Parts: sequence; structure tokens; C-alpha cells
Amino acid sequence: MASYPSFVKIVEVGPRDGLQSLNQTIPTDDKIKYINLLSECSFPEIEVTSFVSPKWIPQLADADKVSRSILHAPHTVYTALIPNLPGLENALDAGYNSVAVFTTVSETFSQNNTNCSINESMKRFSEMRLVWKEIDLRVRGYISTVWHCPYEGKINHKIVIDMISKLIDLGITEISLGDTIGKAKPDEVRRLLEIILSKWPPSLFALHMHDTFGFAEENIHASLELGVYKFDSSTGGMGGCPYAEGSSGNIATETIHSLCQSLGIETGIQSKNLIQAAEFIQNTVEKESITHA
Ligand code: HMG
Ligand code: MG
Repeated sequence: MASYPSFVKIVEVGPRDGLQSLNQTIPTDDKIKYINLLSECSFPEIEVTSFVSPKWIPQLADADKVSRSILHAPHTVYTALIPNLPGLENALDAGYNSVAVFTTVSETFSQNNTNCSINESMKRFSEMRLVWKEIDLRVRGYISTVWHCPYEGKINHKIVIDMISKLIDLGITEISLGDTIGKAKPDEVRRLLEIILSKWPPSLFALHMHDTFGFAEENIHASLELGVYKFDSSTGGMGGCPYAEGSSGNIATETIHSLCQSLGIETGIQSKNLIQAAEFIQNTVEKESITHA
């Protein structure tokens, strides 16, 4: 019989990944209300927004205002996504003590997403490290396109392992492995995780599964069996990366939460509040699409 972890950490990425690709602008006050509702769910971590170029991601141009206006629940870590030193400085200015940096194992995706090569993105990380090693800052690191890239196809395991080593050397303490276009099947997820977990403990990793082809829940189930216990998700399954064609929503937080309940795994999430937050953001997105139709 399979054994599962007793606790799963859910990282709610709806306010950032869920909203970043929407065409209709979500009013800042609605984002604040959404995040405040999420704070009532007792998430261990919420990714609030990103400090990236507003020309690239106009939806999150209000990152500073949102960050300064939200309420903070005592046991929730609030994280901002950042691509470079200016992003880090802006996040620190807005009061963050947790940030997430992002890179990829596909050169073409790197160029499309951040207008630089993977090596250049590592240089940006090294620049940021000069700052973060001197202060008490928690740094999470995303690796995108870990299994499949929309431009380069299937990704070689060795490149992923090398990238994980680099991020660990930079002092990154949690690495989120992204199935950016939701193409990985459970066997593929299992194969790579077995290699990774033969080298490092599961506490270092989270999975970030987009659900384009409906494999995300099965993948999470498979990875729970291997001892992985941290997952990113978004309320209502919203999300996508504007620079990854075919990237649709993240796995819904409600789906992971129900899966965990059915397996007797604790998440600490308040179900009633979760439904309220999901309904609020879905209604807001719908209202804004009608207004801007
Ligand atoms: P760039 O245009 O190549 O470079 O942007 P730049 O450094 O020459 O800057 C151009 C302009 O952007 C300048 O302004 C800079 O000041 C400004 P201008 O002089 O033209 O007025 N700028 C910034 N402004 C605000 N905040 C900053 C910042 N940096 C520069 N931090 C850059 C390079 C990386 C900034 C750009 O390519 C960018 O913002 N990319 C972000 C792309 C993005 O957010 N993608 C989605 C998130 S990643 C994702 O979804 C995947 C994930 O979910 C995991 C998964 O699913 O796999 C995490
Ligand atoms: Mg994503």
C-alpha cells in the first residue's frame, strides 16, 4: 500500500500566476480583497504578485500598491516573484522578506520569458545573491519547463539536475519544479523525481503543475507517493504564462485540497474560506470580461 506524507504545504499562486496572463485588467482593490480572502484560508504561503517589467506583464503593474495594502495573517509567508536586481529592490522596498526568482532549462523559453539566455539569468541571480546573502531573506527558485518546453520539446534530465545544483549553490532553499505547459505524464514525473530524490531531500522541492491536459492531479498523486509534500496551485485553477504557448491554468487549489482530504493528509486550509476566495476571484474575472467585451 502507498504511504503518503502526513502534511502537505500548499503555496497559493493565484494572485500572481492566476492573474498575470488575463487580458482584462483586474482592479487593484479587487486584487487586495482577493488576497485578504486568501489570508483567511490559513495558507502557509501566498505568492502575492511579481515585480517585473510592467511593459511585459501589465496586469501586475500595481504590485507595489497591492503589496502595501494587503492584510497579513500571522502564519502565512507572503512572497513576491522577481526577475532581477531592480525587482528585488522593489520587493524589499515594499516590505517582503520572502521572494521567488525564476529561470528555466530551455534556452528558447528563457529568451521568450525574460529576454535573456539561461547564463544571463544566472548572472542576474548572482547579482541578486550579493544582496540576499547579507540580509534575512528567504529565497524560493522556480525552474520552468522541467519536463517539456513549448519550443524545445522534451527536456533532458541532466540539465534539470545541473540547474537544481546551481540554485542550491546560490542559497535557494526551496525549488519549485514547473510543468509550465502541463504536458508531463505521471511516469515522466516519477522518473525525474526518483533521480532528484536520490540526491536531495523532498523538503527542498515543490511541484508547480499547470493543468493543460488534465494530468496535474495524477502527477501530484504520484509525487506524494514519492514523499514530495509541497505544491503550488491557484484558486479556481486560474493561470498561465504569457510566454509559454499552451500554458493554461495551474492545478486548482480546491483539487489539491480535496485530494489531500481524500487521502487523509492535513493541509491546514480552511475549506469554507477557500470556496469564498475562489468564488470572489472567479466572479471578478467574469465581471471584468463582460465589462471589457
Ligand atoms: P528587458 O526588457 O529585457 O530588459 O526586461 P531591461 O533590463 O533592458 O529593461 C527594460 C525596461 O524594463 C526598462 O524600463 C527597465 O527599467 C524595466 P524602460 O527604460 O524601458 O522604461 N525593468 C523593470 N521594471 C520593473 N521591474 C523590474 C524591471 N526590470 C527592468 N524588475 C525583464 C527584462 C526580466 C525585466 C522582462 O523580461 C520581464 O519583466 N519579464 C517578466 C516575464 C514574466 O513575468 N513572466 C511570467 C512569470 S514566470 C512564469 O509564469 C513561470 C512560473 O509560473 C513557473 C512555471 O509555470 O513554469 C514562475
Ligand atoms: Mg506557472
